[in-house]
Amino acid sequence: MDAAQPIKEQFIIENIPAKRRRLESTGNIEPLNPKPKVDPLLIFAECKEQNRPVLIAGPMVRYSKLPFRELVGLYESDFIYTPMILAREFVRHRGGRDSDFTTNLKEQHSRQALSGKKQCLIVQVGANNVTDLLRFVEMIHPYCDAIGLNCGCPVREQVREGIGAALMSDRFKVAKFVKAVKKRWGDKVKMETKIRVHDNVQETIQFVQEVEKAGVDWITIHGRTKDTRSSVPVDLEKIKLVREAIKRVPVVANGDCFKPEDIQRITDYTKVDGVMAVRGVLNNPCLFTMRSEATWGAVERLISSVMEYGLPFQLAQHHVSCMMPKGSAIMNRLNKSLNECTSMVGMLDWFDDNFELRRLRQEGFAEERSFEDARRGGAGEKH
Ligand SMILES: Cc1cc2nc3c(=O)[nH]c(=O)nc-3n(C[C@H](O)[C@H](O)[C@H](O)COP(=O)(O)O)c2cc1C
Repeated sequence: MDAAQPIKEQFIIENIPAKRRRLESTGNIEPLNPKPKVDPLLIFAECKEQNRPVLIAGPMVRYSKLPFRELVGLYESDFIYTPMILAREFVRHRGGRDSDFTTNLKEQHSRQALSGKKQCLIVQVGANNVTDLLRFVEMIHPYCDAIGLNCGCPVREQVREGIGAALMSDRFKVAKFVKAVKKRWGDKVKMETKIRVHDNVQETIQFVQEVEKAGVDWITIHGRTKDTRSSVPVDLEKIKLVREAIKRVPVVANGDCFKPEDIQRITDYTKVDGVMAVRGVLNNPCLFTMRSEATWGAVERLISSVMEYGLPFQLAQHHVSCMMPKGSAIMNRLNKSLNECTSMVGMLDWFDDNFELRRLRQEGFAEERSFEDARRGGAGEKH
């Protein structure tokens, strides 16, 4: 990175015309997105009035990219996360920035659920020191509504570097991170921390109280320890106990929200202010519209965004594969053949051989029909 250049000049956002980018970088026009565009705390307050939890599509490395974020946004997520972005790489390398965060004018300015409600874009960061964190926030905050600090990632390489779950053993360090961001930007930058629980829940309560004191705006609790496998059921009891101990800031529960009915079950049990689903929305991006399976319309929307914004083929393939209905022999066979595709062209052929995939502007595009109804030779085939 050339230290002489101002940060803004190096921050490239896809789909923003070059001329505007140049003007912005010379300071002649306002940045596209002076912040905060939508205040997450207002959404917490509105949802409370509506007597419902804030519905959150949580962060997924690799998968929470622009086309998927747009999809879960359309299907009624209140908050939409990016994957964790490593501050160190992002602030030092243009390549890191370009590959880790892609946005566009639509996401910045006209992002909307099908119902038209307001939504927040949260950028999640992995950091192990205040300097990288502050530089990261400085660069990214005009393009999102809040910053989330990852204190839960158990991946060994990150933990060894003091990132993610490593922070769970040092509440004072996390409090220092939060204080530094709040001291620099105050209320202009909203900040969340996403944590895991400890074996001893008292430790988690102390952790959260320290971070709350430091000025964090809300806290997300994944109810597993850093060593708990994701196949082990989430510990809602611990989330409930932490919730009881936290007085000032909203608390979000994360873990095992797979079906529409899980949203209310988790909220009723833990008394949290929001519910975050991750694998649940990967398999069913329509979860927050209270559908128990992904619709074919969601696949059509996803593929349309993939074609428009781009996404590596393997990721698009994985998304469609996760969205396929489970449990029927025909769908299992189709899913297997989908996974045998080796290119985007191959996958488009697979669509054409097996399903009616409507394109944007084609009549009936994104109609909410089932996979079975869209299957060639299936119930929806019109002869
Ligand atoms: C593919 C994948 C990628 C993930 N990436 C992240 C990440 O970038 N940041 C993070 O905080 N958690 C990440 N997680 C953990 C999830 O955010 C979440 O805490 C966990 O999956 C439990 O929620 P769930 O039961 O709803 O899936 C990831 C999980 C999966 C399955």
